[in-house]
Amino acid sequence: MCLGLSPFVVLALVYTRTCATVPPCENVSTSEGFRTLYDAQTACAPLQDGEPKSNKGVRYLVCDSGNVYTKSCENQTRYDVPSGQCKDANMSSCRPIDGRSKRGAWLSECNHHNCKLPDCFCFGAKPHLNLSHTPIFVMVTFDDYLYNDVYHKFFRPLFVDNVYNLYNPNGCPIKMALYVATKYSNITLIKHIFDAGHEIASHTVAHKLPKGHPGDYGAIKSAIVGVKKDILKATGDHCLVNSIVGFRAPYLRCAREAQFAVLKDNGFLYDTSLGSKANPPSWPWTFDFPPKKCMYCCCPVRRYPGLWEVPLTTWTGDDGRQCAMLDACSVGKNKTNITEQEWFDFYHRHFTDYYYSERRPMSFFTHDFLFYRNPNSYPALVRWLKHLLDNYPEVWIMPPKWVIEWVKRPLTLAKMKANRWGC
Ligand SMILES: *[C@@H]1O[C@H](CO)[C@@H](O)[C@H](O)[C@H]1NC(C)=O
Ligand SMILES: *[C@@H]1O[C@H](CO)[C@@H](O)[C@H](O)[C@H]1NC(C)=O
Ligand SMILES: *[C@@H]1O[C@H](CO)[C@@H](O)[C@H](O)[C@H]1NC(C)=O
Ligand SMILES: *[C@@H]1O[C@H](CO)[C@@H](O)[C@H](O)[C@H]1NC(C)=O
Ligand SMILES: *[C@@H]1O[C@H](CO)[C@@H](O)[C@H](O)[C@H]1NC(C)=O
Ligand SMILES: *[C@@H]1O[C@H](CO)[C@@H](O)[C@H](O)[C@H]1NC(C)=O
Ligand SMILES: *[C@@H]1O[C@H](CO)[C@@H](O)[C@H](O)[C@H]1NC(C)=O
Repeated sequence: MCLGLSPFVVLALVYTRTCATVPPCENVSTSEGFRTLYDAQTACAPLQDGEPKSNKGVRYLVCDSGNVYTKSCENQTRYDVPSGQCKDANMSSCRPIDGRSKRGAWLSECNHHNCKLPDCFCFGAKPHLNLSHTPIFVMVTFDDYLYNDVYHKFFRPLFVDNVYNLYNPNGCPIKMALYVATKYSNITLIKHIFDAGHEIASHTVAHKLPKGHPGDYGAIKSAIVGVKKDILKATGDHCLVNSIVGFRAPYLRCAREAQFAVLKDNGFLYDTSLGSKANPPSWPWTFDFPPKKCMYCCCPVRRYPGLWEVPLTTWTGDDGRQCAMLDACSVGKNKTNITEQEWFDFYHRHFTDYYYSERRPMSFFTHDFLFYRNPNSYPALVRWLKHLLDNYPEVWIMPPKWVIEWVKRPLTLAKMKANRWGC
């Protein structure tokens, strides 16, 4: 049975469009490179040779029954893709891109009047709920290929067989997310993980993403959406495939605007590739108003309304250095022998920091490689999760998709528990 989350509605719309009998316009040259436009879909027109950048958005394309037409915006306005209208130049999504000041303007523009839940949430905003009623989400995620060994040694006992009896306050087993590359993965095992209630998300087919130069759109789409195709081919499980709505860029190297355009165009709900400062950590937010500055990866400058970002809130190693994925942190005193207690303390110190800083979701983002390189990190994780669930009734171990679902429609801890939210 599929979960009744709203992202699937978006996805269904995209599929409906693809399946419609009206032919699409294929391989259209747009200002974002070549791409397919569905009937009535629009895009910014590319600049002609020698045309100044400031003309961007003056003309736009529209696909009508398989034919592409070029139209012009009047009176100094510029085309805006999401709304499909010509707007003030400073408000349009394909206006010329010229630096921070405009982005700053966008950032300051975002407020609770022009950005409303459930589909818009400002960068830096907090849910309107008393802290004592707010859950503390701990998002545990793993990236890369899923091999037999890691599944049987680590994932299966902890997340599939639940041999350590780890349950959320709703009485259901804890949930994690797997950002999976499919090429060398055992897809049968991806399905086992999904069937056990966890989130599956895209990490590209072959752990590779083009850089996002003009013309890369098609290759980026194949890399990101190809994960769904591979899983569908191997399992035939539409429920699983339709549940895939998240993406993380390999090496956290984003493919500029094209990455976000592909995610938005293909019904994805969120990206999770952008680093974010730990102090203060931020809640997930939407690209209706892109943020001014990103830490490890370029921020998109255009708007992708309704597309969420689940930021990678940085961790701090025991040497004081910052890391976006926690397995990149330096832990403990003796690198050749990091003790289980040192791992536990490392995890818990970060938890207490979040706990005392307004209950923002905690990002426990890592690779299974951690467990091979540092065998003590695994028993420490099991002990720490158990410690959290036994001692902090407000802790929920939930993956990013569910955290976004909660931000969209916040519930008090009491209601979450009573409704068995997130089972
Ligand atoms: C799209 O069109 C360009 C230019 O006409 C061509 O070079 C390219 O091969 C085409 N791509 C596809 C996928 O048809
Ligand atoms: C553009 O400006 C002209 C002259 O001010 C006006 O007549 C026309 O209606 C405007 N067009 C649009 C689409 O606003
Ligand atoms: C955008 O331009 C319009 C008209 O020039 C102006 O009224 C508005 O304040 C501008 N908005 C921002 C955020 O700069
Ligand atoms: C939040 O807590 C304050 C003080 O306890 C209370 O007055 C207020 O009604 C609460 N608000 C909500 C939304 O529960
Ligand atoms: C994938 O996992 C399944 C289930 O454990 C197993 O039967 C199968 O042999 C594995 N495939 C490969 C190629 O290792
Ligand atoms: C680090 O641990 C290894 C293995 O336990 C040990 O051989 C080595 O002497 C330790 N180094 C230090 C500086 O304590
Ligand atoms: C690692 O360090 C702990 C505590 O210092 C010690 O008890 C243990 O024997 C060490 N392990 C190895 C393999 O040296």
